[in-house]
Amino acid sequence: MCGIVGYIGNQNAVDVLVKGLEKLEYRGYDSAGVAIIDHGNLKVSKHKGRLTILENEVKKEGLTGHIGIGHTRWATHGEPSDRNSHPHPNNDESLAIVHNGIIENYMAIKERLQDKGYVFKSETDTEVIAHLIDYYYEENLREAVQKAVADLTGAYAIGVVHKDHPDQLVVVRKDSPLIIGMGHQENFIASDIPAVLKYTRDIYILEDGDLAVVTQNDIKMYDLKGEPIIKKVYHVDWDIAAAEKGGFDHFMIKEIHEQPKAIQDTYSPRITDDEKIVLDDIKITKEDLENIDQIYIVACGTAYYAGLVGKSFIEEFVDVPVIADVGSEFRYNKSFINEKSLMIVVSQSGETADTLAALRLAKERGARVMAITNVVGSTIAREADDLLYTWAGPEIAVASTKAYTTQIVAFGLVALDMGYKKGSIDDTTYKEMIKAIKNLPRQTQEVLDYEEEIKKVAELIYDTTHAFYVGRGIDYNIAREGSLKLKEISYIHAEAMAAGELKHGTIALIERGTPVIALVTEQALYEKVISNIKEVKARGAFVIAIAREGDTEIEKTADKVIYIPDTANGFSAVLSVMPLQLLAYHVAVMRECDVDKPRNLAKSVTVE
Ligand code: M6R
Repeated sequence: MCGIVGYIGNQNAVDVLVKGLEKLEYRGYDSAGVAIIDHGNLKVSKHKGRLTILENEVKKEGLTGHIGIGHTRWATHGEPSDRNSHPHPNNDESLAIVHNGIIENYMAIKERLQDKGYVFKSETDTEVIAHLIDYYYEENLREAVQKAVADLTGAYAIGVVHKDHPDQLVVVRKDSPLIIGMGHQENFIASDIPAVLKYTRDIYILEDGDLAVVTQNDIKMYDLKGEPIIKKVYHVDWDIAAAEKGGFDHFMIKEIHEQPKAIQDTYSPRITDDEKIVLDDIKITKEDLENIDQIYIVACGTAYYAGLVGKSFIEEFVDVPVIADVGSEFRYNKSFINEKSLMIVVSQSGETADTLAALRLAKERGARVMAITNVVGSTIAREADDLLYTWAGPEIAVASTKAYTTQIVAFGLVALDMGYKKGSIDDTTYKEMIKAIKNLPRQTQEVLDYEEEIKKVAELIYDTTHAFYVGRGIDYNIAREGSLKLKEISYIHAEAMAAGELKHGTIALIERGTPVIALVTEQALYEKVISNIKEVKARGAFVIAIAREGDTEIEKTADKVIYIPDTANGFSAVLSVMPLQLLAYHVAVMRECDVDKPRNLAKSVTVE
């Protein structure tokens, strides 16, 4: 997804922008550019491809200045190209803008501006913003930006520079993240905190409709009517090292290894010494719960797969039927959501467009919305009625790992808390589940200690073209997450199946040596899965089983077995997904793939 950085101060803005954009690379991009006010002139340099291309070009061009904006683009309107990259200037090149989001009514605005003589050079929706600001500009840049955004429908975080205002950056946001970093005689703008963390820990998190004029020594904020507003400074207390690789080869493997701590950080402040769950930002009461007759869980990708595990927890402990759906489908399906419904949205970034749209739809229908998210101050966090942060720390690798396992822990806490309040869970189960949660950091570490063995298994399958993941019950949901991990980072076609469904078609694809990763941790369905494994074995499959410690029986059927420690049902998802994360990682490394930034993917999907 697009990344924005802006700078004003005494340093060379070009260096600060390029370094800041590097920190946003994890968001995914296909081109990059900067606009600098260089000795009174606006200079724009923008190029398709990696940031190193931009870095070489700005050096060749000798670009320098003390104010500028930078951007990494992930194409939506118009192919990745130099011409479509940001920043976009107006026709006389007096101003330039960077934008993150999508302008839905850009065609109508474009036609209007073309009629007035404006010439468009790109296929982007963004370029209309540059011309619109130019159209409204009458010496006051802030007012021109304010008037321009009043014409826009859609999502935007926008940064603007103008050569006649070399002392100010103007920024505005709606539905796309933007922060302002406060330095000493210098200030910054960015889409995300890691871009400015090298320079400052004091930031403002802009909210929808916030507009700011940022100068070297001052930050003035306004609403969209031009009225001044005051915002609270947020102090970032996590370390910059937390956002960097810390000795590992890739962010993904670092984040896989951070899971014991991330899980502990997520539950430990929420379990009291007398073994009670206390969730500060979940205000839902026993009476509220008694009025809820349906719970919806909506999320995308990995977060959705965590939601499927959450569905099992909630149905079991809260005794309410749960419908789980992906954000992109939910918003267009006929939905029966109403004031007697609770929607739980799950999102690592807290900015995923489809999940956010579902949240807003639910609120429109009078439903209560609870959010499980990892990013403090994100849009989803701000708009939900009840909130539970996963304290996983920044997740940089595109492939989600620690976000998934902490989301499952968060679901466990929420389901137990709601069940306890409602009286739908007995004391013994409540205590046993808390105990199971508290064992997870030690048990996840035990699984991680098995990495070398898993690497050996990766060696056996890394050159395959297809792989199948099977399981039943919760194991089927973990199979889905495991197959997503493999395909997104190693580009191996991987498919997850309910093990009992194989014989209804997919088994036709099993040949001698086809890897089948079988999850066999659901005790109630154990015999059934064994039968399904035998069916694929009979057709030549190479079976890798993920089984519970002590299950020696499985060794008679599977070719390789990876054991996970015993835990309560549901939390087995946390333990059995980890060998699958490690397997996907080592296969991808063996195939020399760009593990942290897989092709065609973005970390944060803020467009529909
Ligand atoms: O930020 P979110 O959790 O809302 O992101 C949702 C999905 O885009 C995300 O989980 C995606 O599927 C993972 N990066 C895949 O590993």
